[in-house]
Amino acid sequence: MRRRRDKSMELHIKLANVVAVILWFNSMLMICINCTEIDYQPNIVLIMADDLGIGDVGCYGNNTIRTPNIDRLAEEGVMLTHHIAAAPLCTPSRAAFMTGRYPIRSGMDNGYRVRVLIFTGSSGGLPRNETTFAAILQKQGYATGIIGKWHLGVNCETRIDNCHHPLSHGFDYFYGMPFTNLYDCKPGAQSIILADVQTIVYLITEVVFAGFLTLLALRWTGYVCVGWKWIVWPAVFYSLLFGSWYSIFGFLRLWNCLVMRNHQVVQQPSDSETLSTRMIEEALTFIERNQKKPFLLFLSLLHVHSPFFTTEPFIGKSNHGSYGDNVEEMDWHVGQIVNSINNFGLANKTLIYFASDHGGNRGSVGVNGEIDGGWNGIYRGKKGLAGWEGGIRVPGIFRWPGQLPSGRKIDEPTSLMDIYPTVINLAGASLPQDRVIDGRNLMGLLRGEVQRSEHEFLFHYCGSALHAVRWHPKDSDSVWKAHLFTPRSEDKSCYQTEAGGCHGEFNTYHDPPLLFDLLKDPSEANPLSPATEPLFHEIQDQIRLGVEQHRKTLSPVPLQLSWSNVLWKPWLQPCCGTFPFCGCSEDPIQPSKTLKPGK
Ligand SMILES: *[C@@H]1O[C@H](CO)[C@@H](O)[C@H](O)[C@H]1NC(C)=O
Ligand SMILES: *[C@@H]1O[C@H](CO)[C@@H](O)[C@H](O)[C@H]1NC(C)=O
Ligand SMILES: *[C@@H]1O[C@H](CO)[C@@H](O)[C@H](O)[C@H]1NC(C)=O
Repeated sequence: MRRRRDKSMELHIKLANVVAVILWFNSMLMICINCTEIDYQPNIVLIMADDLGIGDVGCYGNNTIRTPNIDRLAEEGVMLTHHIAAAPLCTPSRAAFMTGRYPIRSGMDNGYRVRVLIFTGSSGGLPRNETTFAAILQKQGYATGIIGKWHLGVNCETRIDNCHHPLSHGFDYFYGMPFTNLYDCKPGAQSIILADVQTIVYLITEVVFAGFLTLLALRWTGYVCVGWKWIVWPAVFYSLLFGSWYSIFGFLRLWNCLVMRNHQVVQQPSDSETLSTRMIEEALTFIERNQKKPFLLFLSLLHVHSPFFTTEPFIGKSNHGSYGDNVEEMDWHVGQIVNSINNFGLANKTLIYFASDHGGNRGSVGVNGEIDGGWNGIYRGKKGLAGWEGGIRVPGIFRWPGQLPSGRKIDEPTSLMDIYPTVINLAGASLPQDRVIDGRNLMGLLRGEVQRSEHEFLFHYCGSALHAVRWHPKDSDSVWKAHLFTPRSEDKSCYQTEAGGCHGEFNTYHDPPLLFDLLKDPSEANPLSPATEPLFHEIQDQIRLGVEQHRKTLSPVPLQLSWSNVLWKPWLQPCCGTFPFCGCSEDPIQPSKTLKPGK
């Protein structure tokens, strides 16, 4: 009897133990499901496409273009449907992305005629005293690499001071273009940058030449009797001036389209046909090289900015011409990076982010009449237009298996500037305290721990002019948007004069501001009025208060895109070889053998 009781007792105890262990396991599991603290520094991979529209991506509703790799990121992670760039153009948007601050705070958006850097030999760029997230992660022990496009300046005072260079802003490895891909980089294509200037220079030259001939004739026939030197010297002088302008135009590809590895110019002019492939190889090598320590990789793609240098396997394969081909190739590149993260077993400790720097250049037409700009879906406006959604609402996807849910969509307003506090927090660092940071940590929202974005207001600047304001009241799901200025032309490309200005005659001023209900009218088609929206005046008042509060946080800073800073300065021109005849190609030109698209 006793022995049997003992046995059953033992059994009970054993059972109890098992139950306890199960309970303990469960509770540990519960803790782990709810755990928000991560006891390691995750890798951060940020992939940014150039000029990609939100309507160009499969998971954002495009059913005729193939972006399976980006779609898979969204399936395995969190997709933001209300993700907003701080500016509708490269230089200011990227400045904001890198610093977590509106570009107006760093002087990277002043919005007169020129709103982006247009020469590698400009003195403007991301100021030294701005702190990028890369700089903070570098201090936290991260290996920090940027591959691809920078477009935030190079030098300040000499050809080699590199004051704005990625390596001066927290990256310990750089491979790519300090500038950007554009038509100037395509042999034989027309210069975009000099289109206006060229016309002016040719006009002046014609006038000067005609004047010179007239004067010559008059002097010959004796009607005027100025000394010959008054005719010859000005002519020589002007010819030299014109000659140097012409040479700038002739040399532009050489000077702007160049590839650097760290501080060294390794290819000038760039071989654009193979550059993107080489970039992906560089990125894969970077991941392999740093797989054992925490790393930050910012892959700043040249895709899908025109002109396209799509490689052979993708040409003619999409349903959307050369633009679609380029998008599909870009997607394949994204897949290469994600696969490599997976294959190294890094998936669960790597946060991957995919976005575009701003909206697509909708309606843009290339040299052969083909569409070469992106599609912004249902959103009005395009690249270059600061207020309308199409210029600033972009794809935004996060993947981090085990830490973030999969297949989740978030409609709350978020900003590209949010990457800054998010990754700094994940790296275990704290934000700079001596300045305003406009981004907000996204982890709570991405994990589903909080339901609401911390952005009550988002401000949409065109240069220094506030064009629109987005208000997401704390106690409601509504998102209101008020436009103080709207551009007179919504069709002109941002390079053309009509859309070039943020101020004055290029825009229509609205008082009261044009008000839209983005929740019901995301296409901004029907402006509200006191008759259609009972809360019209209250909403306008709240927005006005928000703007007042925001304006108090601004202080004047040196303008990085002033005329004196954007103009080309020969002594700042990065150059390998003898200036002005720069030229080198240290990189192997042949496309890779390892990177071949398979099925
Ligand atoms: C898909 O993208 C292409 C290329 O930008 C565009 O022409 C097309 O209209 C888009 N389709 C949809 C359904 O958005
Ligand atoms: C990564 O996390 C997912 C989701 O939690 C899990 O299913 C998977 O087993 C993990 N993979 C590894 C290699 O730890
Ligand atoms: C950087 O320096 C400029 C002037 O030199 C100043 O106006 C600005 O506030 C500084 N920015 C920061 C973030 O300290």
